[in-house]
Amino acid sequence: MLATNCYSNPATLNASSGAGYVTNIGGLTSYVTGSPFLLVCLFISDIYGINATLFRELADKVANKAKCRCVCPDLLHGDPFDPENTSRPLSVWIKDHDPEKGFEDVKPVIESLKSEGVHGIVVAGFCWGAKTATKLGQYRHVQAVVLPHPAYLEVDDLYGMKTPIAILGGQNDTITPPSYIEQFKQVLRNAKHKVDHLVKVFSNVGHGWTVRYDPNDPKAVKAANKAHQIMIKWFDKYLKS
Ligand SMILES: *[C@@H]1O[C@H](CO)[C@@H](O)[C@H](O)[C@H]1NC(C)=O
Ligand SMILES: *[C@@H]1O[C@H](CO)[C@@H](O)[C@H](O)[C@H]1NC(C)=O
Ligand SMILES: *[C@@H]1O[C@H](CO)[C@@H](O)[C@H](O)[C@H]1NC(C)=O
Ligand SMILES: *[C@@H]1O[C@H](CO)[C@@H](O)[C@H](O)[C@H]1NC(C)=O
Repeated sequence: MLATNCYSNPATLNASSGAGYVTNIGGLTSYVTGSPFLLVCLFISDIYGINATLFRELADKVANKAKCRCVCPDLLHGDPFDPENTSRPLSVWIKDHDPEKGFEDVKPVIESLKSEGVHGIVVAGFCWGAKTATKLGQYRHVQAVVLPHPAYLEVDDLYGMKTPIAILGGQNDTITPPSYIEQFKQVLRNAKHKVDHLVKVFSNVGHGWTVRYDPNDPKAVKAANKAHQIMIKWFDKYLKS
């Protein structure tokens, strides 16, 4: 069964997984991986947070392949969504974690990186993180944006996009179905101020497929890898430009 929403494929968490380490950046606990390059890829997590094993694994991979440092700030403030907590369904949890607020919270992280001499920043916003990543692009805080299976993203969010953006949707995603992805594409295509954009719907994949796949299912791994490659290429192009 393909996951169609955030409940149907929760992440596996392990706070000691990954090749990186956890530190404080700009006041936020962050998972950091890769050499201390002055080029940074920010990863804005989904509702499962920065302890998710496959999320960390992808951060490690991007750092390695795009030759950058990957910084994953915890914008959920140590309180990721817990699908087992039935007294706090997503509809309640989200009230304490407004996706809009991530943008304000992440600014000190960017300030801190810049004060360190970082001169190139790109961002990936997964599901919940899509809104924050999009805003970072709108206000030109970053050089490129990638949104794998965005959630809570509305067409309005894409008006006035100032930064090259790639949106990766899934055919079987019911949170942001292909019809929404198509609308996002139209907005970017018809924008007065044109930015480079890539909008793609991947066949036979569900919500969260780039970071919440079954690592024992070769088909799922292959589909995730395909999206990872596109992300890395996008970052490679804009980090070095
Ligand atoms: C968590 O990750 C660490 C480091 O990769 C590993 O040694 C450990 O076995 C993992 N724990 C679980 C419960 O999988
Ligand atoms: C990650 O796991 C550690 C250890 O269980 C916990 O202290 C921390 O709050 C978790 N962080 C996030 C962001 O979920
Ligand atoms: C479940 O969520 C509630 C908040 O709605 C919290 O008070 C409680 O500690 C949580 N339970 C667990 C087991 O995390
Ligand atoms: C995904 O959706 C397509 C189109 O609705 C459908 O044909 C396909 O069977 C679905 N794939 C899976 C694995 O559920």
